[in-house]
Amino acid sequence: MPRTLVVLTGAGISADSGLATFRGDGGHWEGRRVEDVATPEAWRADPDSVWRFYQLRRAALKAVEPNGAHDALASLERRLTGAGIGFSLVTQNVDDLHDRAGSTALHMHGELALLRCEICARRVRDLDSLDAEVHVVCEGCGHPRLRPDIVWFGETPYGLREIERALSRCTHFAALGTSGNVYPAAGFLAAVRAAGAKTWVNSLEAPENLARTDTFLPGRAIDVVPELCEALFAEMTRPAR
Ligand code: OAD
Repeated sequence: MPRTLVVLTGAGISADSGLATFRGDGGHWEGRRVEDVATPEAWRADPDSVWRFYQLRRAALKAVEPNGAHDALASLERRLTGAGIGFSLVTQNVDDLHDRAGSTALHMHGELALLRCEICARRVRDLDSLDAEVHVVCEGCGHPRLRPDIVWFGETPYGLREIERALSRCTHFAALGTSGNVYPAAGFLAAVRAAGAKTWVNSLEAPENLARTDTFLPGRAIDVVPELCEALFAEMTRPAR
């Protein structure tokens, strides 16, 4: 089987750029009920609060830059695809740091930079309308409130068919900066491991879904990922015996 690498990233990869993760001290969900800000029910019941929460996070993107981990993954993608080796980057992150670093990322949980109309399905890329108190009107149908194009709890992630295809071909897999709490993404590691893929994991502490056969590299992504990318490039391009 030809070698193919799939990389799954989570909030930890952007932590070194200054963006908060979700769980743990100082995380987005600390002291907050997920149901109050990240569900379609919350949006229907209290769109002003949900909008405020996401407007702050959209505005925060203006103040941050990709870090060395994003850059290393973008460079790995260029080098592997240049060598004709399969590579897919799937991210749970809704920030745009992979994209700004030059990666082609499949944003399975949506993107902060996108707004979407629930009535006419129009989607716009807009990081200029950042007032936390002012909703954005849909220019397509006049609906008074575009929603953040984020996959909320209870909704179906984007790109699942494409992700499944990539996972089914994958011989090498790395899960970087994710706590392994949120499915279906948390299940990818076990699925590819069971199918015989070689697996690497980076995060600060061992994630929920870690197994003994995974190569676990604890530490900050900015320190660990550039070196891991070099090791993966060597592994993926090593002549077959
Ligand atoms: P979490 O906040 O659950 O987990 C972050 C992970 O990153 C943890 O395993 C940390 O140890 C690790 N971490 C923190 N700082 C790091 C650093 N500097 N370098 C490397 N690792 C670091 O975030 P996710 O797993 O991404 O969904 O969360 C998954 C989903 O849950 C999110 O996409 C979001 C959330 O609810 C939606 O909003 C739909």
